[in-house]
Amino acid sequence: MKYEGLDFPQVVEELADRYGVALTQQGQNSENIAKNKSEKEILYKINQLTARFYYDTLNSPEGQRGMDYLKHRNINHDMIREAILGFAPSAGKSLLQHLQQKKAPLDLAEKLGLIRKGQRGDYYDFFRDRVMCSIVSAEGKVLGFSGRALSDEVQPKYLNSPESPIYHKSHSLLGMQTAKAVIREKDQVILVEGNFDMIRLQQEGIRHVVAPLGTALTEQQIRYLSRLSENFILIFDGDAAGQKASARALELFLPLGILPRVVILPSGEDPDSFVRKEGVEALQNKISNSVLLLDYWIEQILSERLASDSKTGQGPQAQAKAIRKVGELLELVPGEIEKVYIYKGLRKGMACQ
Ligand code: GTP
Ligand code: MN
Repeated sequence: MKYEGLDFPQVVEELADRYGVALTQQGQNSENIAKNKSEKEILYKINQLTARFYYDTLNSPEGQRGMDYLKHRNINHDMIREAILGFAPSAGKSLLQHLQQKKAPLDLAEKLGLIRKGQRGDYYDFFRDRVMCSIVSAEGKVLGFSGRALSDEVQPKYLNSPESPIYHKSHSLLGMQTAKAVIREKDQVILVEGNFDMIRLQQEGIRHVVAPLGTALTEQQIRYLSRLSENFILIFDGDAAGQKASARALELFLPLGILPRVVILPSGEDPDSFVRKEGVEALQNKISNSVLLLDYWIEQILSERLASDSKTGQGPQAQAKAIRKVGELLELVPGEIEKVYIYKGLRKGMACQ
């Protein structure tokens, strides 16, 4: 239950599914469980129909603008197929009509956030005039969608599916359908921040890469991935936001006893833009030379101390503050042996300075 963030009946169902055990349902709740299960199956089915619809639209004249956008970003057909990319038309009722034609229960499509009720009580499409990215589980089930506006003037840039019985953003990761097997095989997992970062890297052959969706990395996502590999590589932007994200991530990893590595990109670049400019080998190089995120942060903290020393001359106070900050990080590490190990590394680092 903790690992997956599910409630008890959900876990029982999952395990029964996984090991092929037929659940016998007794008592008052049996109807509920049966209903829940079949409802979920219909929800998956509707999402699958929808992914297919967006994909087919992208490949039709109606999707030309979406296809132009993807061409312009250098995304190829193989990747479009693999990531199940698509296009949501601007008309406003295209998906609705498609779902009606397929006799999909509209209340469930609404539950998935695919259609919404307008003021006059009639349904309209939630995603309009966007390039659609299917959020697909490792098992190939379509959980939801993330739609990107075609121009940077349109807000929000990304519109994602709301939470639903089958989509929980704090658990889901983009790119899992391709990445899962490769993460196991390489015993390494690469985390990036953006949809197109994941798409670019997978297209360029770095296939064990995933991205969280519309949210910072969560503990559930880390726990889930760590069952496949504990060798995490985080690739963040070189800007302030990337710095902040990496600090937050470190605070999630340390209590789990995992020491991720980090690749820092030049300021203003994300993995997508970096690879387009410098080529995938340049990024591979950076991955091979990645450092421990903890070491990176300790160095940051200590160099901040040096900088403030020379600026303000408040040597001892600044030093105390820096050591307190590092101490707070060490507090997060669960094992005593690990703490001592890191502390020794730290003393060596301080001696050097
Ligand atoms: P582009 O290259 O500009 O297309 O985007 P990106 O792939 O580089 O993603 P970016 O780094 O801009 O954003 C990182 C992630 O934050 C995205 O993949 C989204 O999940 C999320 N995000 C960004 N903008 C928005 C937004 O306007 N709304 C929501 N809900 N999420 C967003
Ligand atoms: Mn980008």
